[in-house]
Amino acid sequence: MTDTIAVDYDGLIPNNVGLSADPRLRRALENWYPSCLDWWRTRGPEGFQDNLVYLRTAVSVEPEGWAKFGYVKMPDYRWGILLAPAVEGRTIPFGQHKGEPAWQEVPGEYRAMLRRLIVVQGDTEPASVEQQRHLGATAPSLYDLRNVFQVNVEEARHLWAMVYLLQKYFGRDGREEAEDLLRRRSGDRDSPRLLGAFNEATPDWLAFFMFTFFTDRDGKMQLHALSQSGFDPLSRTCRFMLTEEAHHMFVGQSGVGRVIERTCAAMREAGIDDPHDIARIRDLGVIDLPTIHKRANLHFSLTLDLFGNEISTNAANAYNAGLKGRYLEDQIDDDHRLVDLTYPVLRLRDGLVMRDAGPALSALNMRLRDDYVADAQSGVERWWNRAMSRAGIDFRIRLPHVAFHRHIGEFAAIHADPDGNMLSEAEWQRRRDEFLPSADDNAFVASLMQPVYDPGKFAGWIAPPRSGIDGKPGDFEYVKLHG
Ligand SMILES: [Fe+2]
Ligand SMILES: [Fe+2]
Repeated sequence: MTDTIAVDYDGLIPNNVGLSADPRLRRALENWYPSCLDWWRTRGPEGFQDNLVYLRTAVSVEPEGWAKFGYVKMPDYRWGILLAPAVEGRTIPFGQHKGEPAWQEVPGEYRAMLRRLIVVQGDTEPASVEQQRHLGATAPSLYDLRNVFQVNVEEARHLWAMVYLLQKYFGRDGREEAEDLLRRRSGDRDSPRLLGAFNEATPDWLAFFMFTFFTDRDGKMQLHALSQSGFDPLSRTCRFMLTEEAHHMFVGQSGVGRVIERTCAAMREAGIDDPHDIARIRDLGVIDLPTIHKRANLHFSLTLDLFGNEISTNAANAYNAGLKGRYLEDQIDDDHRLVDLTYPVLRLRDGLVMRDAGPALSALNMRLRDDYVADAQSGVERWWNRAMSRAGIDFRIRLPHVAFHRHIGEFAAIHADPDGNMLSEAEWQRRRDEFLPSADDNAFVASLMQPVYDPGKFAGWIAPPRSGIDGKPGDFEYVKLHG
């Protein structure tokens, strides 16, 4: 049984949370709106703000048909507050309150913890928009240009979703946090975003595709865990955000897939079989597969850091409290309390990576990371490795060991190669460029980044997509650059 509220499009802020009946909240959000728009104009996509972009806008929260496509100028995009329908009689699915009715208000004893979870999630949303703001200048096609803008407006809507929770449920603290979400800035020395990977640059389109494949996938895992929350408004918010997240990962998996496809095709045409014949392959104006692999190593390892320490009291507390669950919690067959259970955790012992049984509650970050690795691995196989084998090119992308290139957790203190073998500092320095993109690799990728803005045309280093957005033909004008 679900109770569905129609989306109200009449006011400034489209919503299905009954904003018109809550004047105090509506005023707070309307006060925040101009700051958000100012943030969008100054830190969102650079240029293109007055161009018509073929975007989808959410007009309902039903699984089928929630999106409407049409041309819109990005600053006029109808960001809104959309919650998935309430599930009648929902109970807290895990932790010490398991089985009690889900909370509709913030449980006082967990207020600070809950606010922190919402702020950390909320901070990632505007961060990625900031990271991607320069990409329009070098888009490989109008199709891709439209896709980055779609991702950007939806991340901004996710920011709206978190700001709604802060403003509605956390009073004055919540309003301050909402301001701070616009004040922090990706990569800023004095006021950086909260998490490391969200302060890295996204200098080119390969980085963008890798980011949406690997880092938006972390977003998916986090949203899944939060969508299990006993705090029902958070659960419903994240459930709807997940429907949008799927498109972001599609952009990444198909984006890198198209780069691989193009490289393989160019190698075949030129009669090059050896993927390591890098100079000749680069002369064809395509990105060699080893460089793509190194980029994957980089983005994968940076993203693993987002899962935090393998053993974490915060994660245990949030689970125990019923605030943040596990990936697909409702499909796991155990007691959903975890007090007496264990989980295998990778540890460093006497210079070796070992698997130890740890308390399941404090190993929740490790578990979410394991679920993430499995999910990413299957995406790599299905979208990338299959493209190479289809083309008959003998090369595969293998995600590195979790000990590789880490800055947080058990392996931050050591250097390891992609197989998880430990390296001395000197060895690491000597071999680093075998595993991670070198300055030279990055300069080569940068040299390919020339914009292609003619409808239906694509840069030479990327294959066209198999089908258009919303069933549009290949030469569709996804972004109107003139008039
Ligand atoms: Fe998001
Ligand atoms: Fe996303």
